[in-house]
Amino acid sequence: MEKTIDETKQGDTIVVSHKNENKRKLYIESYGCAMNFSDSEIVASILSEQGFNTTNILEEADLVLVNTCSIRDKAEQTVRKRLEKYNAVKRDINPKMKVGVLGCMAERLKEKFLDEEKIVDMVVGPDAYKDLPNLLAEVEAGNDAVNVVLSKDETYGDIAPVRLNTNGINALVSITRGCDNMCTFCVVPFTRGRERSRDPQSILAEINDLAKNGYKEVTLLGQNVDSYVWYGGGLKKDYKNATEMEKATATSFSQLLEMVAVSQPNMRIRFSTSNPQDMTEEVFHTMAKYKNICNHVHLPVQSGSNRILKEMNRQHTVEEYISLVNRMWEILPDCSISQDMITGFPSETEEDHQDTLKLMETIKYNFGYMYKYSERPGTMAARKFEDDIPEETKKRRLTEIVEAQRAHGAYRTQQFIGKTVEVLVERESKKNPDQWSGRNQQSIVVVFPKAGYKPGDFVQVKIKDCTSATLIGEAIK
Ligand code: SAH
Ligand code: F3S
Repeated sequence: MEKTIDETKQGDTIVVSHKNENKRKLYIESYGCAMNFSDSEIVASILSEQGFNTTNILEEADLVLVNTCSIRDKAEQTVRKRLEKYNAVKRDINPKMKVGVLGCMAERLKEKFLDEEKIVDMVVGPDAYKDLPNLLAEVEAGNDAVNVVLSKDETYGDIAPVRLNTNGINALVSITRGCDNMCTFCVVPFTRGRERSRDPQSILAEINDLAKNGYKEVTLLGQNVDSYVWYGGGLKKDYKNATEMEKATATSFSQLLEMVAVSQPNMRIRFSTSNPQDMTEEVFHTMAKYKNICNHVHLPVQSGSNRILKEMNRQHTVEEYISLVNRMWEILPDCSISQDMITGFPSETEEDHQDTLKLMETIKYNFGYMYKYSERPGTMAARKFEDDIPEETKKRRLTEIVEAQRAHGAYRTQQFIGKTVEVLVERESKKNPDQWSGRNQQSIVVVFPKAGYKPGDFVQVKIKDCTSATLIGEAIK
């Protein structure tokens, strides 16, 4: 299970945006995190103004864009295969097609794509999407086009995203961009730049608009949502260390959450990702106060060894993490918790690995995303350490933590048997066309017989059975 939930949707082609007057065709694919999927909606919106409708037929596209991920080597390899595919189509079927690479790989590899590899016409970093009209004009004039300038204040707050590949129920809304945390293994601070927060009024306006269009659930997105802070300007400043005066006038993450929950009481509110070092108790209290804020926290820990956490430059110990989670459960007894974990970080010993398993046993996460360490060029870990854990060992350790997670997931799902949960119906179950699939507040998938309900309905479902990741139930009237 080296896949994230998001990765199960990887590469889905997005179709929806359509204006009658638009004559050109855009094929846009997204890989990686939810933020990339959200960014592609901003890109589609910008290009819609340039005469592009989206298409899901690669061969007929005038412009092919791939929004890329650099988080692990494997993610980059996947994108490379797609680039080969686009180039084959361009060569054999549609020579007028232009190909552009967006997102983190664009930022990381910059002109390399054009100079050495000659596989794309356009390279656009995550903060340069507003420059797309100019870049496109360059490409049309027969020139290569690159913009990988990172910004300190771009939040795309003024762009109304075109909702792509949507079920009309769940939507992503980004609230911060970039990351200042500098975890030593992570490429994100280099590819997405400095952390900045988006104007709360533009966030509220976007969510109100979603509600008006019938959306039922919104996920507030950021690499590190808990450090959201708006001082009237978006640049991050450590909220915990702000002066009393600054705090009095600033909007914190918990305040933003409250504003959103109050303005749309009939919408479910989720958020991701939380960082243990920035998460405050206030957030738990706000979650407790508003029933439409879902009881789930995604709280990556990466390792259960204090020595490794230090080498990762994570700003907390295992003990601090556990006490944060315990505090969460005091305030929110029903809250679910999920993790991200990296196995095989440089110098990780068997003892460190056992510490990770021990932490997992203590928390018993509802679900989680587990990865083998992948060295990323330019990161502190790559400069400081040798990637010295043999592949075989990484593999075995990964299998062990995945297995532990499966058992904990099963333990957690069993606790729901006999209980009634509120489910937001999202789609038909893939395994059984007679059943709906949705999620409860805790973000656990629930399937139940259709019985007259439809996607977008909130349904009370009594849980009768479960697997390690899915609850099985029946609607109660
Ligand atoms: N704060 C971000 C983290 C993005 S990266 C967020 O919004 O979720 C997602 C996860 O990928 C991280 O939590 C980490 O577990 C994993 N990851 C990051 N860099 C990695 C690397 N070099 N090798 C393996 N896994 C990595
Ligand atoms: Fe990466 Fe750590 Fe930020 S995992 S995105 S540097 S919180």
